Amino acid sequence: MTYVTKVYYPNKEKFKAYIDEIYDNGWLTNNGPLVQKLEKRLEEYLGVKNLLCVTSGTVALELAYRVLETKGEVITTPFSYVSTTSAISETGSIPVFADIDPETFNIDPENIEAQITDQTYAIAPCHVFGNACDIDAIDAIAKRYNLSVVYDASHAFDVTYKGQHILNYGDISAISFHATKIFHTIEGGAIIIKDDALYEKAKVIRNHGSGGPDSVAMLGINGKMNEISAAMGLCMLDEESSIQNDRAMSHEFYQEALQDYVQLQKRNPEASQSLTYFPIVFQSHEEMDQVRKALYEKEIAARQYFYPSLDTIPFVEKRMPMPRSQDLANRILVIPMHSGVESLVVQTIQETLDRVRNQPTTDQPS
Ligand SMILES: Cc1ncc(COP(=O)(O)O)c(C=O)c1O
Repeated sequence: MTYVTKVYYPNKEKFKAYIDEIYDNGWLTNNGPLVQKLEKRLEEYLGVKNLLCVTSGTVALELAYRVLETKGEVITTPFSYVSTTSAISETGSIPVFADIDPETFNIDPENIEAQITDQTYAIAPCHVFGNACDIDAIDAIAKRYNLSVVYDASHAFDVTYKGQHILNYGDISAISFHATKIFHTIEGGAIIIKDDALYEKAKVIRNHGSGGPDSVAMLGINGKMNEISAAMGLCMLDEESSIQNDRAMSHEFYQEALQDYVQLQKRNPEASQSLTYFPIVFQSHEEMDQVRKALYEKEIAARQYFYPSLDTIPFVEKRMPMPRSQDLANRILVIPMHSGVESLVVQTIQETLDRVRNQPTTDQPS
């Protein structure tokens, strides 16, 4: 079976050499030398400052709200992975949804303002499938109402916006380095914090709130990345350009072959093209389902992603339905961008849609 994501294994010999180094150092976790090296190399590679590696993208998001400390309402997108929302609930605030733009799949800034109350303290958009949000509009709203902006940039490792890495925007960005991502550390993630004082505070919270060997300075968590994860990250960084080149070829192929058959995500023209996912949207849920089944018969597991729309999940307040997000979640599929299955994927999609769309309806004259 071919799945949407495939874990990339970098050069084994290089990874083994790092494992030897870990044994020689006798340092397996607790801000070890490889974690420090990875943080420095990532800051250089991405052109960001104040980056901290943590145990997952979810923990990076949770750390963001712990650092901001405020409790209240956070306006977020219903079309994302569950962690974008659960991190808000988990740290004691209330996620309030603003519906998306059906073409970009990102939170629509026009819907954010209507959800602001005197309890709102932050906006938490996601750059969905690495497509840059309307950063300028979100920034203007945040300034007008004195709100913090926490971006879920989990899909945006390879994205620049207006010439800078996208992680430089907003007050805080969180990113996932899960094994399925374009850059990974097996499990892991990072937080990037604009404000220096908040960055220092995040270091303390990441390490159990420790104020030193004999003191506890504040409430903390265990968010520390281990040395083996850091070693994987260092190996991945060395191979990033070839990983991204391979994806670029798949992306171009799909773009060309599918643009007349399905709806493609409308990209932010100010940002570079993310190569992390290739989402396609069908005219109806039935169409999507037929294509999904046809692909599955050929052992290709395209994924309805993101699904379900987060305004429908159990632990959130149901203030109002998010029809655009629900509609998109019902009609979207993400297809694999690896393993040389691209031609088969395209052929199957085209044949299925030709068949489904040309089926005569019963009231047509024969
Ligand atoms: C948009 C988004 N946010 C957050 C996460 C959570 O990241 P992690 O699995 O590293 O906790 C993911 C993971 O897939 C994601 O896709």
